[in-house]
Amino acid sequence: MNSRTCLAIVLAAGEGTRMRSSRPKVLHAIAGRSLMGHVLDAVSGAGGGAVAVAVVAGPKHDEIAAEVRRIAPQAQVFEQSERLGTAHAVLAARPAIAKGADDILVIFGDTPLVPPQALMQLRAALAAGAGVAVLGFRAADPAGYGRLVMQGNELAAIREDQDANAEERKITLCNGGLMALAGGNALKILERIGNDNRKHEYYLSDAVAIARDMGLKASVIEAVEDDVRGINTKAQLAEAEAVLQQRLRKAAMEAGVTLIAPETVFLSADTKFGKDVVIEPNVVFGPGVTVEDGAVIHSFSHLEGAHVGARVSVGPFARLRPGTKLGEGSRIGNFVEVKEAVFEPGAKANHLTYVGDARVGEGANVGAGTITCNYDGVDKHRTDIGKGAFIGSNSSLVAPVKIGDGAYVGSGSVITEDVPADALALGRGKQTVKEGWAARLRSLKAIGKKKA
Ligand code: UD1
Ligand code: MG
Repeated sequence: MNSRTCLAIVLAAGEGTRMRSSRPKVLHAIAGRSLMGHVLDAVSGAGGGAVAVAVVAGPKHDEIAAEVRRIAPQAQVFEQSERLGTAHAVLAARPAIAKGADDILVIFGDTPLVPPQALMQLRAALAAGAGVAVLGFRAADPAGYGRLVMQGNELAAIREDQDANAEERKITLCNGGLMALAGGNALKILERIGNDNRKHEYYLSDAVAIARDMGLKASVIEAVEDDVRGINTKAQLAEAEAVLQQRLRKAAMEAGVTLIAPETVFLSADTKFGKDVVIEPNVVFGPGVTVEDGAVIHSFSHLEGAHVGARVSVGPFARLRPGTKLGEGSRIGNFVEVKEAVFEPGAKANHLTYVGDARVGEGANVGAGTITCNYDGVDKHRTDIGKGAFIGSNSSLVAPVKIGDGAYVGSGSVITEDVPADALALGRGKQTVKEGWAARLRSLKAIGKKKA
């Protein structure tokens, strides 16, 4: 337990123009969570009691502020009105810095794969006496990154790509962009940063040389390149998605989930699995899904906001939408869509069905082609199917409607009124049979053909 206090400053004032999108860059998602959400998640795991959070966004940042409020309601949002560089952005959070936390962490909002452990290591370097700690990595291609200029084992300075000489450009140890500053000196260091460089920007990376000049120590923590991937384009977004999916699949398998073809299963950052779960190929998990012990998700199913109970079978080709709760041992078969509905233990809808805004009682059977007609064009209404009820195939249950425990609904019925327990309801045209009719038709046709 780290007793030092911490302020994490997340920079999100990037214009993100290379995403070619009307949405702010940090609100794009990987594994069902916004880039900002991933960063805030890493921050909350950065150890040692409460971490105060300040987000720095550009002008017109309502959408970003809303996402921050949703995930981290205590966080403060500051505005950087002009984009004058990373150090200038950090100073937009000056009121938060002035509160005097022991550790100041600076994290880029477009670096979603940074693990909380890396943030903890940066903080540990401060606790060990460093004035500044930098997250470095060995770049496969260092072009564009700030280079870490070492003097023996000590970090001497960071040289931005555009300002580096030929010798410095050869350095492959690069700045991942994340930095920790000892709170007591942070403002002094930040205020000394100038913009006398090629881009005329206030570079946060200059904090290293300034700290050294003040007699403080600068440390490097080495991360792997994947951890510090920054996202500027849709292609980089897809690359980060691929890295994260690999990590999530690996973690699921390590926790005991059977993924038959892991590379075809897409997970969300918050997908939760019990023991002995089997996921067949080509399944997509949107946000908010929990799958309990022994459940099987068959191929080509799509799940979002759903709770799948123990030993449930889903799919193939099932769609579970938000608000779905499947009780133990229930079954959802092929081409079944469920939304905002509870299946109590042992209830079944095995084929071609839509169940929305409903309860399906314990052990009830919903026949093929059944539709809960939940929408009247204006409002949504509920369908309640009792314990052990039997809904015959191709029935329409026009909500609001209640089918009592143990009741039967005849196939092809349109049910508009409540059905009492243990009753049979038929809502369809009565069958008539005309004896010999077909034979008579055929003979009449045969006479007609001979005449012609
Ligand atoms: C930065 C680092 C570089 C490092 C690289 C790693 C600086 C000066 N350079 O360069 O050493 O190798 O990241 O990816 O820090 N931002 C603001 N306001 C600004 C400028 C930037 O909020 O005025 C935010 C951006 O939204 C982004 C982050 O700061 O999230 C980094 O800015 P960016 O322009 O991407 O810096 P790089 O040139 O990549
Ligand atoms: Mg960048």
